[in-house]
Amino acid sequence: MTASRVRITVTGAAGNIGYGMLFRIAAGALLGHGTEIELRLLEIPPAIPAANGTAMELVDGAYPLLRDVVVTGAPHVAFDGADIALLVGAMPRTAGMDRADLLAANADIFTVQGRAINDHAADGVKVLVVGNPANTNAAIARAAAPDRPGDAFHAMMRLDHNRALGQLALRAGVSAGEIERLAVWGNHSSTQVPDIDHATIGGLPVRERIGDDAWLDGEFTRVVANRGAEIIAARGASSAASAASAAIDHVHDWWLGTPGDGWTTIARPSQGEYGVPEGLVFGMPARARDGEWRIVEGLEWSDRVRGLIAATTADLEHERDAVRARGIPA
Ligand code: NAD
Ligand code: LMR
Repeated sequence: MTASRVRITVTGAAGNIGYGMLFRIAAGALLGHGTEIELRLLEIPPAIPAANGTAMELVDGAYPLLRDVVVTGAPHVAFDGADIALLVGAMPRTAGMDRADLLAANADIFTVQGRAINDHAADGVKVLVVGNPANTNAAIARAAAPDRPGDAFHAMMRLDHNRALGQLALRAGVSAGEIERLAVWGNHSSTQVPDIDHATIGGLPVRERIGDDAWLDGEFTRVVANRGAEIIAARGASSAASAASAAIDHVHDWWLGTPGDGWTTIARPSQGEYGVPEGLVFGMPARARDGEWRIVEGLEWSDRVRGLIAATTADLEHERDAVRARGIPA
């Protein structure tokens, strides 16, 4: 993609992930070093002062590519003319809140933001939802933006993909860059399905190179799928730098393309590929070229993977139905 100046909206800009991503975006990690950047930072009123502090630090970084930073509490200002929207801010789960309450609280946020994107963003806007529950929030934002193409609304599963690469690299004693053709199917939740059945390390099938199916089908899968909770237990806060990095990886590839013949994992509304119900925002392997993603089709699932994918599909359908039961389109 070529554009000399790109407007990027980041919601939840005063939060931990926002702080982890904004300086890298300003430095050129998202779109390369030939593209100038304007930032629109959306926050809720109590966090506007902190977002202003982040904006001051962005100016103090004297980034050559950074041409403008605006902090606002108004979605129509934040998304006005946005080419890229990173929806990071979300309502955290608080004491006494059940999952349905959490889904509903976030549904309001993502409905408002989806509408604002529909009405104010630039043609061709690319939207990545990071705030949890990311897949269902993306489906809600998409439903609130009927004038935009559905495939403009993604949820982030690149962190799950990167986590799987990291575990395999550690185990095999190789660089993560030597691993290809991995996929993570389904929901960004503990039901996600890291799939190494097509993956290679240095050109060799992963199962052959690792030589331990029990580990691959057991501990590896559990560690990747539960990594978010494990990090919260260790840090006392959810992953932030790695989440910021994964969001940058996702949009970088969307903008500039996935390298070579390789693929990665994205979640966008299903168009029925692999029999996944249409509209579910579902993790699948994909390649990007010229700003468009194409799902990698024709991969075979083992019985084990097929069973796990049925469970993550049911998980996403359950989230969707809980939101719809409150009268919210998703
Ligand atoms: P955080 O609590 O540090 O920051 C969230 C920010 O969002 C806060 O500054 C808050 O004021 C803001 N916010 C809340 N509602 C908003 C709204 N309506 N508009 C604009 N801003 C709003 O949280 P964080 O660590 O930055 O994480 C952000 C979200 O990302 C959480 O939902 C977290 O669970 C999720 N997350 C997702 C992944 C993933 O892989 N998809 C990974 C890590 C974290
Ligand atoms: C993660 O995977 O690190 C987060 O989605 C965990 C969370 O609940 O914020």
